[in-house]
Amino acid sequence: MSSIGLAVIGAGYWGPNLVRTAIATPALQLQWLCDLDEERARTVLGRYTIVKATASYERVLADPAVAAVAIATPAATHYDLIRAALEAGKHVLVEKPLTSSVSDAVKLADLAERSGLVLMCDHTYCYTPAVQRIRELIRGGEIGELQFVDSVRINLGLVQPDVDVLWDLAPHDLSILDFVLPEGVTPVGVAAHTGDPIGNGHACVGYLSVWLSTGALAHVHVNWLSPTKIRTTIFGGSRRTIVWDDMNPAARLMLHDRGVDRIPGSTLAPDDRRQALISYRIGDVQVPALPEREALMSVLAEFAGAIVERRPPLTGARAGIRVLELLEAASRSVDDGGTRIPVNMEAGS
Ligand SMILES: NC(=O)c1ccc[n+]([C@@H]2O[C@H](COP(=O)([O-])OP(=O)(O)OC[C@H]3O[C@@H](n4cnc5c(N)ncnc54)[C@H](O)[C@@H]3O)[C@@H](O)[C@H]2O)c1
Repeated sequence: MSSIGLAVIGAGYWGPNLVRTAIATPALQLQWLCDLDEERARTVLGRYTIVKATASYERVLADPAVAAVAIATPAATHYDLIRAALEAGKHVLVEKPLTSSVSDAVKLADLAERSGLVLMCDHTYCYTPAVQRIRELIRGGEIGELQFVDSVRINLGLVQPDVDVLWDLAPHDLSILDFVLPEGVTPVGVAAHTGDPIGNGHACVGYLSVWLSTGALAHVHVNWLSPTKIRTTIFGGSRRTIVWDDMNPAARLMLHDRGVDRIPGSTLAPDDRRQALISYRIGDVQVPALPEREALMSVLAEFAGAIVERRPPLTGARAGIRVLELLEAASRSVDDGGTRIPVNMEAGS
């Protein structure tokens, strides 16, 4: 199988990770690294390379050796860059968030589908062994009914000039939620509250609630100002509960056989009811073994696989649209003083 000619666009913080993993992916042949700052692209590539550096995106798209581009530029540039690539007949992998609006993303998803081209979102966490196992556990019924999700993603983060903390960090939590939810369970409402205590002009602290069609509630807490780094998500089920602590490599996942059962009230005498309605289960905790694998290697392998096999990728444009639906609703909620905003996930189905 001949390898797929690739260009990486953007040589800032994240682009060099795409460069490194693309070079290590046999199915891809990195041809170009393009950045408005050509010198930066040159520095990232180093001296001993046959990969070309350029500031000209047009030159990259005109090169017949390039079949695909991987875009790691700021979100506001994604729409124009993706559209130009698709119109030039190139497959696209784009960093989260897919675009800055649902309406732009829908146009691109339609264009990619009409053109028979892959448009994939780099929802990196969905390719980690931990999240893949969580998906199996939830979708396979291991934890019973999903009752709640509680996600904390806080640290001293890079305060972004162009987006708030919800649009910067919550795409991770929302793409994970989208990936692990059982078939047919969808978000139905969103409320968000944010704060900008340093006067940055964009929120640095965000709290986001997502109601699901089953009545379950998911909550996401994102923060750029926390001195301690926490990356913990709890998926509470009626039978078991998954605790994912991404900062604990020895036990990233813990499966708790603990929880709360409710005894149907009708079986109890009225005097006993108040005491006995709730019973606590205190069982074992298991630590599933997970392979050590770099998620970004799996992202690029999936991108190449989708191109070669002419199939939709695991995290395609529609997954990106579903994340954007929730982010747009969150921004509307913030503007509206934190009220609950209904969401309609139709464009992403
Ligand atoms: N998947 C992840 O875990 C992850 C992590 C960090 C960032 N990201 C995403 O990656 C993207 C880039 O983020 P970053 O932190 O690397 O940004 P950055 O600002 O560090 O780098 C962006 C680079 O893009 C270049 N650029 C801007 N417009 C361009 C254009 N039109 N053509 C060519 N180059 C252009 C800039 O010169 C800059 O070097 C964002 O969408 C961000 O959300 C993803």
